[in-house]
Amino acid sequence: MVNTKVTLSGITLDNPVIPASGTFGYGYEFAELYDINILGSFSFKGTTKEPRFGNPTPRIAECPSGMINSVGLQNPGVEKVITEELPKLAKCFHKPVIANISGFSVEEYAYTCEKLDKAPQVGILEVNVSCPNVHHGGMSFGTSPEAAAEITKAVKAVTSKPVYIKLSPNVTDIVSIAKACEDAGADGISLINTLMGMRIDLKTKKPVIANKMGGFSGSAIFPVALRMVYQVAEAVTVPVMGIGGVSSAEDVLEMMLAGATAVQVGAANLVDPFICKKIIEDLPRVMEKYHIKDLNDIIGGAHI
Ligand code: SIN
Repeated sequence: MVNTKVTLSGITLDNPVIPASGTFGYGYEFAELYDINILGSFSFKGTTKEPRFGNPTPRIAECPSGMINSVGLQNPGVEKVITEELPKLAKCFHKPVIANISGFSVEEYAYTCEKLDKAPQVGILEVNVSCPNVHHGGMSFGTSPEAAAEITKAVKAVTSKPVYIKLSPNVTDIVSIAKACEDAGADGISLINTLMGMRIDLKTKKPVIANKMGGFSGSAIFPVALRMVYQVAEAVTVPVMGIGGVSSAEDVLEMMLAGATAVQVGAANLVDPFICKKIIEDLPRVMEKYHIKDLNDIIGGAHI
């Protein structure tokens, strides 16, 4: 018998496996496939103050071992999320959920976080300062320590639940940004969001994606994500959620050894909608294979 339970800011999860925002809708869509209560938690679709149609299509480009997306934060807006999406979710998911929030100004982030902080199902607020697909806001707040700290402070001032800041890998020094967020009061750090990439269609000789560039994710980015999780976990004392290219129980263990307390699964959900279920079911066997009795014993274990 192994222990897969982990604790994030006082919230105990049955296991560390969490579908990443943007790859799992508002949850109930996947509840038609399996009982999503087996998940540790999940991070719902990035939500903004106003409804957003998102970017023009095509928004997706396939790549070897990954994909590029430029969705552009399509979502129904925070009011509808609270009045329509969360009640549907409540019928099929009975654990604290992670609310992923984006914005285009400090005030907008604070407004949306304050609203979602009051939703009883929300356990953690994940503040996305790393969306590469919008021309202002999003990632622009996550590429400087000062801007990331300003968002963190503004959100913390109007919320009571744990605030995790989701960081961009499209920076030269992610550690300084993570530390600035921690100093500004963040309760945890989620990393990484997607890496900026592009594809060109040889027939049209133009970019595949209408917005030209987008965020690259999938198993190809796993080593980059693992490296950044390792660096950030070494520098901060708050919990880290590791994200980026995770698609197996082995990847979960690697992320935890690098310092993650919980691990999000992103693009792999779009390839195999059952992947989180498979990882959760596989985890005890893989733990036994590597003589791990309790996941808590390996968090940060790769640090010398
Ligand atoms: C998007 O909606 O464009 C993706 C969200 C993100 O990468 O943060």
